[in-house]
Amino acid sequence: MRVLEIDHPLVAHKLTVLRERSTHSSVFRQLADELVTLLAYEATRNVAVAPVQIETPVTEMTGTKLSNPKPMVVPILRAGLGMLDGLTRLLPTAEVGFLGMVRNDETLEVTTYANRLPDDLSGRQCFVLDPMLATGHTLIASCEYLHERGAKDITCVTLLAAPEGLKALEEQLDPAIDLTVVTASIDQELNEKGYIVPGLGDAGDRLFGVVD
Ligand code: URA
Repeated sequence: MRVLEIDHPLVAHKLTVLRERSTHSSVFRQLADELVTLLAYEATRNVAVAPVQIETPVTEMTGTKLSNPKPMVVPILRAGLGMLDGLTRLLPTAEVGFLGMVRNDETLEVTTYANRLPDDLSGRQCFVLDPMLATGHTLIASCEYLHERGAKDITCVTLLAAPEGLKALEEQLDPAIDLTVVTASIDQELNEKGYIVPGLGDAGDRLFGVVD
């Protein structure tokens, strides 16, 4: 597993505003979108490309274009939806599948409640979007699901990661799974309620409002 914590002044600035309690949900959505686009630059560094012959107004040349099979972008519902446009903007050929996972706030266990993904992901590069890598349970379950269906490699784009979640991935993820985690910050710790500290609160609620 590779972990990339992106060190860039624009990422640091936008993340700081995102963390602030007083940041309104419309600004939060806009900033999350912009942050994902900045993270996507690194997250897509190894996306598959192929040489193509093109004609410029001046001459012929060999260029480079995204190749097949198409990358698969998988936002984890619900909070991952707030990251979807930010990534697909940079990956125009990508297809989008959805995984709905919910965490029990007491046991912190994860269950899958929705799945719209092809059964066969052979050779596909997958980009999992989840703003908060907290316990790591959701990402472990998602990676196992994608790997079982043949995903070639998996890149998780996350706004914040907790050291506990990264450790859980390191210890529990099948080593055959080729995973890269790209994050704007590795924060301090998880608190007793499973929230990332200092964090930004409940990402889904801050993006889309509170659901009782
Ligand atoms: N999920 C969130 O939305 N926030 C956290 O801090 C941890 C998990």
